Amino acid sequence: MWLNKFKLLTFDSIDSTNSEALRLAKLGVDENYVILSESQTFGRGRYGRMWDSAPGNLYMSILLNSDIFFSIQSELSFVASLSVYDAIKNMLQEKNLSFEMRLKWPNDIMINGAKIAGILLESIKYNDRHYLVIGMGVNVKNAPSLEGRKITFLNDLSLGPVSIRVILDSVMNSFTHYYDLWQKFGFANIRKIWLENSYKQGEIITFSDGKNFIKGSFIDIDANGAIRLRLDSGKIYSSSVGEVFFGE
Ligand code: BTN
Repeated sequence: MWLNKFKLLTFDSIDSTNSEALRLAKLGVDENYVILSESQTFGRGRYGRMWDSAPGNLYMSILLNSDIFFSIQSELSFVASLSVYDAIKNMLQEKNLSFEMRLKWPNDIMINGAKIAGILLESIKYNDRHYLVIGMGVNVKNAPSLEGRKITFLNDLSLGPVSIRVILDSVMNSFTHYYDLWQKFGFANIRKIWLENSYKQGEIITFSDGKNFIKGSFIDIDANGAIRLRLDSGKIYSSSVGEVFFGE
């Protein structure tokens, strides 16, 4: 039961569950936490984007008090996306609903080509202790606007009313499962499962490293989670930071 391993803190409203997790880290807490809020006033997404956080969606952060070596922290973003993926998939299956569900590099969850959830990893070192924050936002009642992206939400998929607590439990049960798997056997299993469910593998995609746009065919992810593309020249390009565009 995940509640034996994490302390749960709940809020009606907060600036950002990730910010709260970072504040706890700065207090030097010993435990792992889950922070849940009904809404956020300054929810944030990747690349400093705003994350619309009106009541009705899931806004949560996991604070891991762990000495995970910095260079492999990004592997946890795949652990996190698999957890959210499984949680949503199980809920849909329970209602006999089946949709095309895929994982977009590095950590978006897509249903029928539209984003339903996003993940934001942040880390902090305090007094020689390392903390990792995994923020998760799942669209349940509303589809927050994200420029140029197709967005969907659970209630739009004929799922009927879903309680945020049920989704939280489902996400955390999957998270403890995949985190355990990762701790025991490393990234190889996680990588394999992620790739089996990945979005647009083998297709031509556009990748941005923040400065340049690079076009190539999406081969796979490497042993640490970096994306690998085959360029027109035949060369292999790989990067562990950046964003993928499909014109969706
Ligand atoms: C993204 O896709 O850009 C990542 C979005 C992450 C949003 C979640 S909501 C809970 C947590 N608190 C935040 O401020 N952000 C993350």
